[in-house]
Amino acid sequence: MAANLARRLEGKVAIITGAASGIGEASARLFSRNGAKVVIADIQDDLAHKICEDLGPSSTFVHCDVTKEKDLENVVNIVANKYGKLDIMYNNAGITGAVKSNILDNEKSEFEKIIGINLVGTFLGIKQAARVMVPRGHGSIINTGSVSSSIGGVCPHAYTSSKHGILGLTRNTAVDLGRYGIRVNCVSPYSVLTAAALDTLKKMGKEGSEIYSTLNGAKLTPNDVAETAVFLASDESKYVSGQDFIIDGGFTIENPGLSMFK
Ligand SMILES: NC(=O)c1ccc[n+]([C@@H]2O[C@H](COP(=O)([O-])OP(=O)(O)OC[C@H]3O[C@@H](n4cnc5c(N)ncnc54)[C@H](O)[C@@H]3O)[C@@H](O)[C@H]2O)c1
Repeated sequence: MAANLARRLEGKVAIITGAASGIGEASARLFSRNGAKVVIADIQDDLAHKICEDLGPSSTFVHCDVTKEKDLENVVNIVANKYGKLDIMYNNAGITGAVKSNILDNEKSEFEKIIGINLVGTFLGIKQAARVMVPRGHGSIINTGSVSSSIGGVCPHAYTSSKHGILGLTRNTAVDLGRYGIRVNCVSPYSVLTAAALDTLKKMGKEGSEIYSTLNGAKLTPNDVAETAVFLASDESKYVSGQDFIIDGGFTIENPGLSMFK
């Protein structure tokens, strides 16, 4: 009984995009510890292979560029052939892009690139997962949003637009796929100090220590995000759909300019 409770994804099959590093990697490791078969879909082959070596035979790597529908179709087909089902699709791959706060400095091509990976990649992941989930009438789709899914001014224009789009897509597809028993949710972290995030902060002239939340003393780690994803992937969240699960230490619920708690 205790062992079953500890392995909250026992018997489930999950694809995680962008799982060769950062939040996706932490999720792949935690999903695996919870008994899931994990398929890493990423473009960083060497890193992904190393994670699979650690995780053992319950893990697989499939090279997948989320901007290419054929790649996502391929990874879903491989999973369906190997395991006969797909329970969890975690659309996590994403990039921040160049930090240029003035819109006049923003190039159309760069804007389209970020939208292509973050938003179109998520659309393609949802679509291809739905293809095999709908006939089974079951599945949990998780999309990585951000605090930039619901507020402005924190990240570059393209990134914020893509993350707002991901939340809209989450809500729309939750209604669409809910008709077939499939849940779709967003996990929206604040700044997690992965290598990618530290690099972005540096470009903004900021450091990790400057990150402000309402919660004193706590630091957000990739594993904290992975824990939320495990909940949304598991049957414990069987009635949760269309939601934006914000992990931000209360950052987005306060207007610091008017705060009386200083
Ligand atoms: N780190 C943060 O502070 C933070 C905060 C909010 C949201 N997020 C989101 O979390 C997700 C993961 O970010 P992270 O911080 O772990 O960064 P990361 O760079 O460590 O991981 C991103 C992964 O996505 C992969 N990837 C990039 N382009 C891809 C493509 N076209 N196809 C397939 N894979 C691709 C990369 O190879 C990498 O493994 C992203 O969607 C990001 O926007 C991060």
